[in-house]
Amino acid sequence: MSVQTASFADWLAAARPEVEVALAAALQRRSAAAAPPALREAMQRALLAGGKRLRPALSLLACEASGGVRGRALAGALAAEMIHAYSLVHDDLPCMDDDQLRRGLPTLHVIYGEALAVLAGDALQALAFETLAAQEDARLAREQAALLSAAAGAAGMVGGQVLDLQAEGARCRAGDVEAIHARKTAALLCAALQMGAAAAGVDPKPWEAFGGALGRLFQATDDLLDATASREQLGKNPRRDQALEKATLVAALGLDGTRRRAAELAEEAHKALLELPLRRHRQVLRDVPAFLLQRAP
Ligand code: IPE
Ligand code: IPE
Ligand code: MG
Ligand code: MG
Ligand code: MG
Repeated sequence: MSVQTASFADWLAAARPEVEVALAAALQRRSAAAAPPALREAMQRALLAGGKRLRPALSLLACEASGGVRGRALAGALAAEMIHAYSLVHDDLPCMDDDQLRRGLPTLHVIYGEALAVLAGDALQALAFETLAAQEDARLAREQAALLSAAAGAAGMVGGQVLDLQAEGARCRAGDVEAIHARKTAALLCAALQMGAAAAGVDPKPWEAFGGALGRLFQATDDLLDATASREQLGKNPRRDQALEKATLVAALGLDGTRRRAAELAEEAHKALLELPLRRHRQVLRDVPAFLLQRAP
């Protein structure tokens, strides 16, 4: 299926059912199928109960935009979402952000206890790399595993989460906050785009600047939403960042300052897009920063 549209909202809406079906199928196969029932149930909840599916939709988009066939990008798209889902489960644990609500539902540790939440996250991370490894194209599997492990691990998301926790209670400058955002959020979002480009057989490197700007913009709007939106709008408990004295962009720049910075990051993303050798979908990609900005007006 391919979509003729210039709106990223439409692209996302069209990609979501395809991603949902494929994620559900991935939980019926290989190691997930052999999981103890309680673990499988927890993994299912973490992976299938809601979520915008932004990262897989971006993976599929980068693949088609680079001239590839979207089916080749599906494994990478699913793997990115599995890492994302695991990162949320761990992020919500009492030892991290101690959150009770996610995607409008109780968080995983609230339902299943902390031990199963930790282990379901661990299993989702393994499933991500299993999903990449199961591809027929061994070279693509290796290239995507290198991209995803770099983005998810010590220098990427996990490293960023450590910096985020260490910065609690500290007064951080905006530059320092964005350095945390680059790792904890932008690295994985960027890897989703890059795995899509790799699936199209092109060099993923040129996607770094666009993905990095987009990822920092995404976290800027997440910080804004925490400070301004309601529980119903978020599906999460709001004002948690303030309660935990998180080093957010809102703490560093204020609401209006963060909105201005988000607009600058959108501009940075637009400029980076101009440098990309795209075969299709330039308008859809151009619309992504606006889509992210309008999440937090
Ligand atoms: C939330 O990500 C966590 C951050 C990286 C800020 P999303 O807002 O993409 O979460 P879901 O998947 O749509 O629930
Ligand atoms: C989370 O950032 C980034 C991750 C790596 C999961 P946040 O802690 O701000 O995400 P939310 O607000 O809980 O979704
Ligand atoms: Mg956090
Ligand atoms: Mg959190
Ligand atoms: Mg947040």
